Amino acid sequence: MSTSSSAPADRRAFVPTALDLGDVVLRPWSRADADSESLLDALVAAGADPAIALWNPIATADRDAARAWVEARDGGWERGAAAAFAALDAADGTLLGFVGLRWVDREDGLAMIGYWLLPAARGRGLATRATAAVTSWGFATADARRIEIAHAVGNEASCRVADRCGYLPEGTLRDSHRFGDGEYHDEHLHARLSKDPGVELS
Ligand SMILES: CC(C)(COP(=O)(O)OP(=O)(O)OC[C@H]1O[C@@H](n2cnc3c(N)ncnc32)[C@H](O)[C@@H]1OP(=O)(O)O)[C@@H](O)C(=O)NCCC(=O)NCCS
Repeated sequence: MSTSSSAPADRRAFVPTALDLGDVVLRPWSRADADSESLLDALVAAGADPAIALWNPIATADRDAARAWVEARDGGWERGAAAAFAALDAADGTLLGFVGLRWVDREDGLAMIGYWLLPAARGRGLATRATAAVTSWGFATADARRIEIAHAVGNEASCRVADRCGYLPEGTLRDSHRFGDGEYHDEHLHARLSKDPGVELS
C-alpha cells in the first residue's frame, strides 16, 4: 500500500489522504463528489441494498439525500471528527464502497471503524483489505490508541472482516444498537490496539 499526504497539524488530526491498494483506491469523500451523478446514483443504490439497509443504514434515498450524505462526510474531515473514504475501482472510478474511521473520544485516542460495500464488490476480500489499510493508517498517522468495530451478532460477514483484520473479540453488548429493521440487536465488540502485533493478510 502506498500513501500520499501532507504533514499533520496535530497528532490526532485525520489528514485527508489517498490509500492506494493497487486495484482499488481509497480516497476521502469530498464536497466535489456531490456534483457527480454517477457517484450519487451509486450512493442511492447502496442505500437501497438490503444488507446495507439492515446492518449499516445510510440516508441516501435519492440524489438530494446522497448529496447531503457526501457533504456530511466532507464536514467530518473538515472538523477532524471522522475520516470517510470512498473505495473506488482504480481502473474506472466506479464506486465500490465506504470505509470510515471516527473518533469516539479523540483526546483518549479511541476511534471506531465502519464499512460497507456495494454487492458487486463483495466476496473478494476487499472489505478486509480496505479495513486493514484504514486501520494501519489511523494508527500510524492519527495516533489512534484503540479502534473498535461493533457489529450485530447476526452479521457474520462483518464478524469475519473484524477477525481477519486482527480486531480481537471482546464480548457481546446486549441490545446495544437499533438496526435498520427498527429492532435492537446484540452486538459483538471487537477492538485493535496500536500496540497489538501486526496482522498478515493472506
Ligand atoms: C460486511 C461486508 C463489508 C463484507 O464485505 P466483503 O468484501 O464481502 O468481505 P470479504 O470478502 O473481505 O470477506 C471477509 C470474510 O467474510 C466472509 N463472508 C463474506 N460474506 C459472508 C456472509 N454473507 N456470511 C458469512 N461470511 C461471509 C468471507 O468468506 C471472508 O471470510 P474468510 O476470510 O474466512 O474467507 C459486506 O458484506 C457488506 O457491505 N455488508 C453490508 C453492510 C455491513 O454489514 N457493514 C458492516 C456493519 S458492522
